[in-house]
Amino acid sequence: MSGSTFPGATPDPEAWWRGAAIYQVYLRSFADGNGDGIGDLAGLRARLPYLSDLGIGAIWLNPWYPSPMADGGYDVADYRDIEPSFGTLAEAEEFIAEAHALGIKTITDIVPNHGSDQQKWFMRALEAGPGSPERERFLFREGRGAGGELPPNDWQSIFGGPAWTRVADGQWYLHLFAPEQPDFNWANPEVVEEFHDVLRFWFDRGVDGIRIDSAALLVKDMDGEGEEAYTDLDGVHDIYRGWRRVAEEYDDRILIGEVWLPDQERFALYLRPDEMHTAFNFDFLACAWDAAALRRSIEETLATHIPLGAPPTWVLSNHDVTRPVTKYGRADTSFDHADRKHGMPSDPALGERRARAAALLAMALPGGLYVYQGEELGLPEVEDLPDELRQDPIWVRSGHTDPGRDGCRVPLPWSGDEPPFGFGAGQPWLPQPPEWKALTAEVQAADPASMFTLYRTGLRLRRELLGDGTLAWLEVGEGVLAFRRESGLICVVNLGAEPVSLPEHESILLASGPMEGDRLPSDTAVWLRVI
Ligand code: GLC
Repeated sequence: MSGSTFPGATPDPEAWWRGAAIYQVYLRSFADGNGDGIGDLAGLRARLPYLSDLGIGAIWLNPWYPSPMADGGYDVADYRDIEPSFGTLAEAEEFIAEAHALGIKTITDIVPNHGSDQQKWFMRALEAGPGSPERERFLFREGRGAGGELPPNDWQSIFGGPAWTRVADGQWYLHLFAPEQPDFNWANPEVVEEFHDVLRFWFDRGVDGIRIDSAALLVKDMDGEGEEAYTDLDGVHDIYRGWRRVAEEYDDRILIGEVWLPDQERFALYLRPDEMHTAFNFDFLACAWDAAALRRSIEETLATHIPLGAPPTWVLSNHDVTRPVTKYGRADTSFDHADRKHGMPSDPALGERRARAAALLAMALPGGLYVYQGEELGLPEVEDLPDELRQDPIWVRSGHTDPGRDGCRVPLPWSGDEPPFGFGAGQPWLPQPPEWKALTAEVQAADPASMFTLYRTGLRLRRELLGDGTLAWLEVGEGVLAFRRESGLICVVNLGAEPVSLPEHESILLASGPMEGDRLPSDTAVWLRVI
């Protein structure tokens, strides 16, 4: 491909991914088919009718590869197979085919920054010793100090503690996350080729998209200091240009970046037409429940994406962040990895009200939408898990100061009055709160006022009326977000303290909560049809 022919330069407005609602499946907590307490492909396949009924267009699965689970599967031991507790490669292929038969696309998660210390490449690197080509696939270095007893530099792991671990022969290897997740050396062409081959392996099996984990971290300046030495270095873009070329060998396959960067201009570089197709909007996810802040976030997002022809994405939650119902019920409604506000009091009724309004806001915006499993059930963060059951490496690596992300990863409640709530026959790998009997999919599917029904109705209307495109702001009042979409739908969200009057409209299509006469109450959103 020549440098001037960008494959995505004339975006196809009808492309499936531009306006898709993408449902995130955290497999080990979704549904358990074999009774071992761990969600799996059999459980997911049995629940495909639920996802089809919910009305999503694609499923993104967190890593499903063989893994010692030091970081919930983000420590991949083999990129070309399926974790045995999840199922087999044949089952994965059947899942892809069954999803396709229902009109649902599939997206798999590739982790290119690091592998697992149980991966063959890493074990061979340990055996082969210093100076070997096997070690060149990773970032091994000699230590500092007379006997090399100090790490090569002071970089810290994102999960806490030093980013280096020493091996028996005295060398150290870099791991930006847990020690069980050694970082690859992306300056080595063998690593580049290996991942091109992994992409083809999954595209050949029919997956429609790749979610790229920790996408901004792959290139390192080993002489640099602090986060700047490994975050968003210019060299990463060559890697994704190579990945885009691989995707273009196939029909209609996409790359989605996990790119956490505060600087929107730097973020936009990943969405150039010869790099990724889309990336998660973490600015929106982290934004406080505040009209001015949300408007700024939405406007910046649109301004960043529209000139590039890349669809924006709208994300309220995922497997790494606090559940919206809990987050929005707190006095401080923003999200920050550095301070998860664990245990900060949260008003459940207020949180639910706002989460419902936020869902209608996110669904009405132009572009792609992500829904993390359980968000459609309004599950809260589980903050009182017994410490001895916590599995997130952040808990241990932070010296037990940060409980980490297990609270948003508790197995889903499907049906019944008590745990395991139809999750599977065995005891779930994390305990479910008994109060979740009111939140099961079964209860909610039968309740017209439930969060599930709101999501299902919203997703249907969104599919019929919205998707990708643009918006025009309407000025309705202070503390109110209001905009009109091309199809004639108006979304109004009242984040102020007082009820507000609605702009002129023909009918109310959907509301996140009851109206106060003809006025929209605080923390409520409404979709209006106009003539
Ligand atoms: C990403 C994943 C997260 C994981 C980390 C390391 O941020 O979303 O769950 O722990 O990468 O792979």
